[in-house]
Amino acid sequence: MKGHIIVIFGASGDLTKRKLIPALFELYQQRLLPEKFAVLGVSRTELTDQVFREKMREFLPYQESEDMVRFLQSLYYQAIETSTPGDYPKLKDRLETLEIEVSIPANYIFYLSTPPRLYEAIPQILAETGLNDVSQGFRRVIIEKPFGTDLASARELNKNLLAYYTEDQLYRIDHYLGKETVQNMLVTRFSNGIFEPIWNQNFIHHVEITSAETLGVEDRGGYYDQSGALRDMVQNHLMQLVGLVAMEPPVVIEANAIRNEMLKVFQSIRPLNERDVATHVFRGQYTQSHIGQDFIKGYREEHGVDPQSRTETFVAMKFFIDNFRWAGVPFYIRTGKKLPTRVTEVVIYFKQTPHHLFEYQSDTETTNNQLVLRIQPDEGVLLKIGMKVPGAGFRVQNMNMDFHYDELSNIYLPSAYSRLLLDCMQGDATLYSRSDAVEKAWEIVQPILDAWKNNPDIPIYGYPAGTWGPETVDDLTDGSSWRKPCKNLAHDGEYCEL
Ligand code: BG6
Repeated sequence: MKGHIIVIFGASGDLTKRKLIPALFELYQQRLLPEKFAVLGVSRTELTDQVFREKMREFLPYQESEDMVRFLQSLYYQAIETSTPGDYPKLKDRLETLEIEVSIPANYIFYLSTPPRLYEAIPQILAETGLNDVSQGFRRVIIEKPFGTDLASARELNKNLLAYYTEDQLYRIDHYLGKETVQNMLVTRFSNGIFEPIWNQNFIHHVEITSAETLGVEDRGGYYDQSGALRDMVQNHLMQLVGLVAMEPPVVIEANAIRNEMLKVFQSIRPLNERDVATHVFRGQYTQSHIGQDFIKGYREEHGVDPQSRTETFVAMKFFIDNFRWAGVPFYIRTGKKLPTRVTEVVIYFKQTPHHLFEYQSDTETTNNQLVLRIQPDEGVLLKIGMKVPGAGFRVQNMNMDFHYDELSNIYLPSAYSRLLLDCMQGDATLYSRSDAVEKAWEIVQPILDAWKNNPDIPIYGYPAGTWGPETVDDLTDGSSWRKPCKNLAHDGEYCEL
């Protein structure tokens, strides 16, 4: 890998401290960083390199080590006013000095860990300062979500970025794609002879994707109230999961081949018109409740949230993918804050046998085989199959066959950010979102945003914090009920950890 400097804009922000610096340290410890490497933190506050290092130290493991001391030595800091073009020559000079001091080749990764309103200004000013010039070395820009707040702003943002950079210099990060278990969906599907032949509308009854969180909006009320679950989770993370579950096998495992297949899925999702929104998309907002002894406040009481807010903290929706593989198979997706447990999973419900010979042990058991791809926590894969209850007669009971990632305990599981940062350093954009796919995903959610805006009669249902969302979501699923996943992947019929 080529030596380079990572410039982090927004170096005093939360993401830098909590995710980026720990992820870079993880890479350092794994000896995955190039020998010639530096991080240059950039933000408005005046700090010395030493003070910056001390601040970042607080977010590394408690135990000090030689590795840590050496890693911290590769952190530097430069104060500039990031929206002021006149300040950028300072940045350019600092980069040139660093290159000489530490003898690093002139390759730069610019990481935008800033408020989204700077996503246009910073890349543009960098370009105007000549810092997008690839004649001396590579120039890559990593951008955090949100990529726009609606279809129009996403198009505008892409247009602006592409005026100064080529698509392969742009790395739009969606941390879900960095999760090992999300990538494993490709391997599960395309490396096993048993799944792919039945991965289609002949055998699959429906697909259910859940991303549930126990947390509320915490200290992000101001941001979240302008965003809501549809923009915050569905347009990006959940759509990426849909893409990976539903795509055709790529020709090769390579950035464009995979991204082309993802795009085709998004292109095939049947667009909702505004009229369908009320029946296909349900939104909810958490209300106050008691969980055990604790009083939990409602969303409207959260700091930074409008007391009359109609922002959704829960979304469930149904849609179809109109192509040969998925014709007629409903996809149900849901996400929400303040749900009973934190869990993200994809569940494939297979069709029943054509003729029922046996009785089920209990009424609650379904005769659909289910394949659960658990993204988090208790990462793994679970298959539910019917087995004979021992003894007289032929009664059936569902059993679990499960695999847990932690069984591979001797294997290093990289965090999502370290995996993605490493890929960008290596120039591999496979797990980053391409501009056309981002826009297409916005096209899918835009009619929903429009319908909610233009039609205030579409209800927003309250759900008590700590429950599985509004009860009405069961009306979406044509008789099949949503899974109520537990933290434990297996034994879920026997006990449920929340
Ligand atoms: C972020 C959202 O992108 O993803 C947050 O902005 C959400 O609101 C988070 O909590 C969920 O990520 P994870 O990895 O905890 O599932």
